[in-house]
Order: sequence, then C-alpha cells, then structure tokens
Amino acid sequence: MKNIVVLVSGGGTNLQALIDAEKSGIIQGGKITCVISSKDGVYALERANNNNIPTRVIPRKEYSDSVSYSKAILDALNEEKADLVVLAGFMTILDECVTKAYAYKIINVHPALIPSFCGEGYYGLKVHEAALAYGVKVSGATIHFVNEEADAGAIILQGTVEVQKDDTPEVLQRRIMENVEWKLLPKAVSLFCQDKIEIVDGKAYVI
Ligand code: GAR
Repeated sequence: MKNIVVLVSGGGTNLQALIDAEKSGIIQGGKITCVISSKDGVYALERANNNNIPTRVIPRKEYSDSVSYSKAILDALNEEKADLVVLAGFMTILDECVTKAYAYKIINVHPALIPSFCGEGYYGLKVHEAALAYGVKVSGATIHFVNEEADAGAIILQGTVEVQKDDTPEVLQRRIMENVEWKLLPKAVSLFCQDKIEIVDGKAYVI
C-alpha cells in the first residue's frame, strides 16, 4: 500500500474527489495518509479532519523564500514516508530540492490543456480568465508529473470540455472540475499506486 500525501492551499474539492475515490475503491494500492496545507484555516483541512486524515499546516507566509519553504515541505514528506505526493490545488511552486528528491513521484492537476495557459502566474481562476480572453473553443485539465519547470513535467492524462459563448471563468472552472479534474486525478493516482505508469524518454505512458 503506497502512502499518498496530498498538498493543498484552498477549498480542496480535488482532495474530496480523492477521498471519495479511495472510499469507493476507485483508488487501488494507495491510501491518503496525510494532508499538508500551505495555509491555515482552509476548507481542505476540514475535509481531511472529517475523514480522520492527519493534517499538517506549513504556512508559506512564514518562510522568506521558496527554497526554505521547500526544505520544510521536503522534511515533512520524508517524515510522512510519502510514496506519492499529490498537488491538489497547491498554489506554491516547489524548489528542485523537492522535485529532484521525489522525481516522478509528484502529481499535479492543472486546469488547462498544457502547454496552453500554464507556467508561473497561471493558477486557479487566472487560467480560465486567460482561456476565455483568448477565445479557445475547448479547454480542460492536465494531470502531470512535477519537475523543475512549472507545469512542464510529463503528462499522464488530459481531458477536455467545450467552452460556451457565455461562460464566465467560474462557470468554466466548475465544468472542468466536474467533468475532468475530479475524475482524472483519482484515476491517475490509482494508476500510479498500481505501478501502471511507465516513463520512456521523459514521457509518461499508461501501461
Ligand atoms: C483546481 O481547479 C486546480 O486545478 C487548480 O486550482 C483549483 C483548486 O481547487 N490548480 C492550479 O491552478 C494549480 N496550478 P480545489 O482546492 O477545490 O481542489
């Protein structure tokens, strides 16, 4: 059984999707053993508490830079004996001390079709604002491994939704969450926990 540590910063609907998927048996071979938040008081922590999952808060604002913050995260991941780290709405970019120590063991969900609308500065609603401003007709979400470059690691799964003429960023975000993120993130986690993701030449393939 692999130890899954989930990193969050906000409402935690993706965390909830993972908790539900574990309960219903969609996630095989892994168990959420800890939730770490970069902010105190967020609803994701309550979701973890409601399901008796141990939590830790490592506030980003208490660290002067990304390197010192990432070292604190790395210590926590090592203490928790993480086999898989899931960034589920985690709004901080991790330094290479973490991404190298956990290479191909960190999975992120990004709310767009990478390589569009991604990289530094593209997170949460900003991603959907940018997609609507561009006028794309299709958007979606990407589940990918995390490496040293923001949103540039090997893609595991992607799913799409159609963009409607009167969409607001909030409406598009919700459609992408419901139809793609909450389904594909648990699926990718389950594939990882069953060793069903293969890396060839830096690209990820489902076996
Ligand atoms: C999700 O849409 C997730 O894809 C996005 O933030 C939202 C978090 O929602 N993540 C990013 O933008 C990361 N770059 P949640 O807290 O309800 O899961």
